[in-house]
Amino acid sequence: MLSIDLSGKRAFIAGVADDGGFGFAIAKALAEAGCKVSVGTWPPAMGIFETLLSRGKIDEARKLSDGSLLGFELVVPFDADFDAMELVPEEIKSNRRYRERGDFTISGAAKTCVEKLGEQPFDVVVHALANGPEVKNPLLQTSRKGYLAAMGASAYSFVSLLQHFGPLTKPGGSFLNLTYLAAERVVPGYGGGMSSAKAALESDTRVLAYEAGRKWGHRVNSISAGPYASRAASAIGFIQKMIDYYAHASPLPGELGADEVAHTAAFLASPLASGITGTVIHVDRGYSAMAVPHDLDSLITPIMAKKEG
Ligand SMILES: NC(=O)c1ccc[n+]([C@@H]2O[C@H](COP(=O)([O-])OP(=O)(O)OC[C@H]3O[C@@H](n4cnc5c(N)ncnc54)[C@H](O)[C@@H]3O)[C@@H](O)[C@H]2O)c1
Repeated sequence: MLSIDLSGKRAFIAGVADDGGFGFAIAKALAEAGCKVSVGTWPPAMGIFETLLSRGKIDEARKLSDGSLLGFELVVPFDADFDAMELVPEEIKSNRRYRERGDFTISGAAKTCVEKLGEQPFDVVVHALANGPEVKNPLLQTSRKGYLAAMGASAYSFVSLLQHFGPLTKPGGSFLNLTYLAAERVVPGYGGGMSSAKAALESDTRVLAYEAGRKWGHRVNSISAGPYASRAASAIGFIQKMIDYYAHASPLPGELGADEVAHTAAFLASPLASGITGTVIHVDRGYSAMAVPHDLDSLITPIMAKKEG
């Protein structure tokens, strides 16, 4: 029987700080397939995540199908904005949410993983994070600072992840990021340079697939997910509208489950996907395939009536 078996493998997922997003769902799916999982958590969110874990607040969500709880080999501080400690501004280093965390940069997280897990610990690396401080601003009202911040945290961080975790990953490893349709089409409200960052992330996926494929034999792919009410998406402000519209308008009606994205991630992480690299796979119940809504009549009739009347 063909099945996804990741036993004996180890994954690092950057961008897990609660049980409500794609990173957590992917951690669970990889663990269901037998993979050991470590996560990288943004220092400002780390205290809350540690409390959720230690007080058993997300135990229900952590339950695996065999009744055991999803456990993390490591929870390491990970800030996607910084590549090395010497590049971190003093006010961040001394901030109370950072100062006790040691080296929270991407290179620091990589070093911590090697110290704790040994040389080349990983087989699978997932980038499940994004940040755009001006996401609510239309592009026309986005500052250079906001635009570059979105690009740095949401796109360049994946390049840096390959640079620092590529060598720590066994040859033939699988790298994955999460993107959104706004990279390809206009999604009003997804602003602040986030659409630009996702477009860069998708382009980088192809270039990094080539470079990391030649260098280490790693595969690099992207999942373009439909809308899901994670903490980050809810902060943008109109996620429920998007979920309802997609559920109504997609070829497969109904809401996208995080497990649908996570199962695709588990497939891409597995040897079953050994021939797939440099791709963006839409996991959105088919929404991105549509050019004209199926209920065009009901949308257009009042407009036509107004025109004629
Ligand atoms: N939810 C959606 O509708 C949707 C749709 C398509 C793609 N995505 C993508 O999925 C990925 C995961 O997002 P999610 O929606 O599951 O939300 P989420 O809230 O679970 O994940 C976002 C994570 O990013 C972390 N983060 C923010 N800034 C960071 C930084 N500077 N350094 C390190 N971590 C940082 C947050 O702490 C959080 O854990 C993102 O790339 C997002 O763009 C989400």
